Amino acid sequence: MPLPHHTDITDGLRLTPARISPKYFYDQRGSELFEAITRLPEYYPTRTETALMQWHAEDIARVIGPGRTLIELGAGNCQKARSMCRLVQPACFVGVDISADFLQSAVQGLRDEFPGLDARAVGGDLTQGIDLPDDIPRSGRLVFYPGSSIGNFDPPHALQLLAYMRALVDEDGGLLIGIDLPKDVAVLEAAYDDAAGVTAAFNRNVLTHVNRLIGSDFDIDHWQHRAFFNAQESRIEMHLESIQAVQVRWPGGARMFAPGERIHTENSYKYPLSVFTDMLARAGFGHAQAWTDERGWFAVVHARP
Ligand code: AVJ
Repeated sequence: MPLPHHTDITDGLRLTPARISPKYFYDQRGSELFEAITRLPEYYPTRTETALMQWHAEDIARVIGPGRTLIELGAGNCQKARSMCRLVQPACFVGVDISADFLQSAVQGLRDEFPGLDARAVGGDLTQGIDLPDDIPRSGRLVFYPGSSIGNFDPPHALQLLAYMRALVDEDGGLLIGIDLPKDVAVLEAAYDDAAGVTAAFNRNVLTHVNRLIGSDFDIDHWQHRAFFNAQESRIEMHLESIQAVQVRWPGGARMFAPGERIHTENSYKYPLSVFTDMLARAGFGHAQAWTDERGWFAVVHARP
């Protein structure tokens, strides 16, 4: 009998081409591998975003102001939360992440560093709607969604998520969001296919996680990492490609893969700034102010209703 949970995974595996949602990258090992990715020389987004936020720190702090309720979506190791807490001095911090255990210990670290801060960890999947505790203040919320994580969603879905973020805040609320911008294809492709093979390990690890979740028998040695820029769609695509004929079984199902057949594991959209601010406006964030780095590789946007 199929397991009652994770029917989205088995449904995705039955499709041609097969797919697995990138949210399944982030088990404990995947979260650690993602952290390692952010330190790779080729992976520019994290350090570019960090540098540009430091460069524009005074501006950002002035626009946001102290005493807010900072809600970070995908808070992970809370490293960015730490900088933000120093920068904007929120009264309350709510970290939301799909990897709840990983998040718990990171939020404890925040409490230790900022003794006056009301810091909470909420495990949850943004795409399913998150359950915020009732005592989180409604007014003065700032939703923080850094790292260009919005790039994982196709444009209609991204728009829907932005509208959801708009619904999380009142008129006096705001959104601070990072987006990766289009750039030289060689730079983009190197960032998602690094020389040390960390991104390959991150991509292949999703199969180990899926094996645990649905009881499948993927052998990760049968799969290789593929990453390329799809210019038509303005996105990096990541896939796992079988290196031989493979049969994968799980309780209640099975699937054959021909040699070279792929499982699509991730899209990472690169939005031109004007396209993105249009989306923000359609989601109910009519006022946007953006900061970029000197190369124009990444943008941090503050948006208000
Ligand atoms: C966390 C979605 C922003 O798309 O750059 C990094 C994930 N995938 N390397 C990205 C990722 C491969 C990352 N996001």
